[in-house]
Amino acid sequence: MSVASSPLIFCALDTPDLAQAKAWAEEIGPVTGALKLGMEFVNAYGPQGIEAVQNAAPDAALFIDLKFHDIPNTVAGAVSAVCQRFSPAYLNVHAAGGTEMMQAAKDACGTQSKLLAVTILTSLNQDAIRLVGYQHELPDQVTRMAKLAQDSGLDGVVCSAMEIEQIRSLCGNEFDLMVPGIRPVGAQTQDQKRVMTPEEALGKGASHLVIGRPITGAANPAQAAQDILDSIGKDAVA
Ligand code: C5P
Repeated sequence: MSVASSPLIFCALDTPDLAQAKAWAEEIGPVTGALKLGMEFVNAYGPQGIEAVQNAAPDAALFIDLKFHDIPNTVAGAVSAVCQRFSPAYLNVHAAGGTEMMQAAKDACGTQSKLLAVTILTSLNQDAIRLVGYQHELPDQVTRMAKLAQDSGLDGVVCSAMEIEQIRSLCGNEFDLMVPGIRPVGAQTQDQKRVMTPEEALGKGASHLVIGRPITGAANPAQAAQDILDSIGKDAVA
């Protein structure tokens, strides 16, 4: 599926079990219209794993979340390989790779795919980024990197719900904000430290939500996905 039809919720298929990933894809893919595969899954099952999920949910858009970070030529090669084989709706790189790397990645990105940047990982706090060598306050560092990604031609960023408003006001309405750490009202937060409901995140300006365990951990994942869509009064595809 191309990005033209822009699904709202990417369901994170986080499992070390290929059969489980395929079963979720079959069940959830038709409801959300979009799925996310990350580096644990892809490193365990490789391109064949991605293909298996794509075959299980042929109409679902894919976000291949591998967060590439290397020299421009190498990242461009990786992006090109992923786009040629899978035409994902989204894939991503680290903004810390710099402008030249992001531009090379964007140039290598197929026309069917959008490229997002990871700014500062949400697992890092102020002290941690100081140790790495970043001198700015964390929110400022995040927005600087989002702007750098935009200026490098990228289509958006992955960001926490707490960062949506600042990035949206700096980068404008056309910039995609893919937001994880989302929990429906009453859902368990698990290891997510700061969560927001789908409605709040969309109200603040998120364009897409990444939701995993509130869907995949439910007794009926397809129903859980549908309930979330109903709660925000939206169809799967914006
Ligand atoms: O199960 P849950 O809804 O917490 O899953 C969120 C997904 O988004 C996971 O795949 C996780 O790796 C990813 N993610 C995140 N926080 C970030 C970046 C990615 O939770 N800052």
